[in-house]
Amino acid sequence: MHVRQEVFDDRAGVYAVAHAAFASGDQTIEPVEVGLLQNLFDCPQYDPDFSMIALDEEAVIGHVIASWGSVGGNYPLLGLGPLAVAPEYQQRGVGSILMQAIHDRAKERGLPGIVLLGHIDYYRRFGYEPAVSHGILPSDPEWGDHFMVKVLDADKLPVGPYRYAAPFGC
Ligand SMILES: CC(C)(COP(=O)(O)OP(=O)(O)OC[C@H]1O[C@@H](n2cnc3c(N)ncnc32)[C@H](O)[C@@H]1OP(=O)(O)O)[C@@H](O)C(=O)NCCC(=O)NCCS
Repeated sequence: MHVRQEVFDDRAGVYAVAHAAFASGDQTIEPVEVGLLQNLFDCPQYDPDFSMIALDEEAVIGHVIASWGSVGGNYPLLGLGPLAVAPEYQQRGVGSILMQAIHDRAKERGLPGIVLLGHIDYYRRFGYEPAVSHGILPSDPEWGDHFMVKVLDADKLPVGPYRYAAPFGC
């Protein structure tokens, strides 16, 4: 298994992984995350540096993306998601490796942090904490502690209301 940046030719594999990972049982229904990814790849807030795939030989088995949102309408801050691992490859550390790859890139770029909306028990293991405790507010208060931040540089972390990239619609 290896990890690298996603390129255009990987997209069919990325959509297939997202479809399988987020499927609700009926495989004929396309999960919303697939359309979200298509829109993210086409939007100005897409940054190829933060779209990473995991491969088993040539097959895409996992994908993570973070795109540019903003705090207080001014300060760019990455918002992570979706993260997906093909069901048959789950529970083998692939998701963890993809998260580490994104964090390493963010550190290389000197970014102050990354936010996400997700499962508290899963993301806590990567150092994510409730974003409100660091002054970053969700656009929907009902997200509560599921809206989380990984702090990379506390001194540079902006505070205020967060808006995701346009395709998220929030
Ligand atoms: C969530 C997901 C990306 C994890 O990928 P993975 O490669 O299986 O993760 P890892 O192998 O690195 O980690 C597995 C650990 O995460 C835990 N875990 C997985 N999904 C979890 C969840 N939703 N909530 C809490 N813990 C979770 C497992 O129980 C396991 O715990 P353990 O290490 O204590 O045994 C994968 O299950 C997936 O694609 N799920 C469907 C899509 C999804 O929900 N994406 C996240 C959106 S927030």
